[in-house]
Amino acid sequence: MAQNWTPNSWRQKPIQQVPDFPDLAALSATEAQLATYPPLVFAGEARRLKNQLANVSEGKGFLLQGGDCAESFAEHGADTIRDFFRAFLQMAVVLTFGAQQPVVKVGRIAGQFAKPRSSNIEKQGDVELPSYRGDIINGIEFNEKARIPDPERQIMAYRQSAATLNLLRAFAMGGYANLENVHQWMLGFVKDSPQVERYRKLADRISETMDFMKAIGITSENHPSLRETDFFTSHEALLLGYEQALTRVDSTSGDWYATSGHMIWIGDRTRQPDHAHIEYCRGIKNPLGLKCGPSLTGDGLIELIDLLNPQNEAGRLTLICRFGHDKVAEHLPRLIRAVEKEGRKVVWSCDPMHGNTITLNNYKTRPFERVLSEVESFFQIHRAEGTHPGGIHVEMTGNDVTECTGGARALSGADLADRYHTHCDPRLNADQALELAFLLAERMKGGRDEKRMVVNG
Ligand code: PEP
Ligand code: CO
Repeated sequence: MAQNWTPNSWRQKPIQQVPDFPDLAALSATEAQLATYPPLVFAGEARRLKNQLANVSEGKGFLLQGGDCAESFAEHGADTIRDFFRAFLQMAVVLTFGAQQPVVKVGRIAGQFAKPRSSNIEKQGDVELPSYRGDIINGIEFNEKARIPDPERQIMAYRQSAATLNLLRAFAMGGYANLENVHQWMLGFVKDSPQVERYRKLADRISETMDFMKAIGITSENHPSLRETDFFTSHEALLLGYEQALTRVDSTSGDWYATSGHMIWIGDRTRQPDHAHIEYCRGIKNPLGLKCGPSLTGDGLIELIDLLNPQNEAGRLTLICRFGHDKVAEHLPRLIRAVEKEGRKVVWSCDPMHGNTITLNNYKTRPFERVLSEVESFFQIHRAEGTHPGGIHVEMTGNDVTECTGGARALSGADLADRYHTHCDPRLNADQALELAFLLAERMKGGRDEKRMVVNG
């Protein structure tokens, strides 16, 4: 067990991004109440994810992590969850084909409510109010009352996470994810989607393979892996009082686990080695993500790895790199070299969203071509360094929103106003997310052909 660590030892450390709760007694009462509630996930599930990520760190798998920037209380409907899950499964099946490797599926969902902000204040005209920090903390409406942090929202976030997880478990295990349904997952395509034909071709190939396997006796009835899938949850562990309340000892191993989600990550703004967020995360046994932005040095990264993964366990730590399409070539190679030199086991994942945000017509947006460009550079750099580009981390939705520009439909700045629904950062819509998966799968296939040529050549 981590030395000198307790679930509340983070409270002795400096901390960034804390909301100004006006009533601290009410906050403590809520945390005490949450601490009596059942866990949302189980330690055994987190260990299963860690094992799958260990395979990824060894080059034997690919991590797909994605979902909303911020979940919202207003959009908590079955259709939203189903549409997300379907878009995610479509991406996963495309990537499985491209990578010819298992795809580890991790949603940014069922707990992704708290947001770090670059400013404590939001100004509209002459009015200044505290910034919105996610539905688990305050309301997005621009008025004084909504912006007051309210502890009761943590109870609502917990209950929404439980209900979301319940539906996701049913989808993953109850037949929806059955590969025999690969054609039915198309029902969600918006009319005239440019991805339809590509997807139909892939689905036809999968169905043909399934028919062949059925003929030799391998069916979804006798092979659960054809009808079920592992789907895991993740979120940024930002609101540490909430995380602490859901931190529990696993009776099997005697270890502490965060039971708010299978994997939690540390944001780019809260990764100071001597601060509270690192302190909390070092003591729990879940797989962890660490956001790596342009300000992180090679030495700084090794210091953080020493704290977060002192035993050098494979699958424990995923480095989620988010530099920007024009900065990735400058920053990624030195981090890879530092990790390789020290022989640290990590999963390398690419978040092509957070370094590529621009403002257009007063909307925060992300040009699809920059998102794609950062992922492509990420792959090229790993190939050049001889390391495994292990995954992607995207902000996406299953809905037909207009938040990121570009893609096959060439969404323009003028289109953004149509269906701009996000509570925080702009997300890829279902079409753009699937297009990204197809383009990536092509690159992966290209990479394999190249390798083969080197081996044979
Ligand atoms: C996020 O993932 O929504 C986020 C805030 O990312 P970062 O910490 O990398 O800025
Ligand atoms: Co975001």
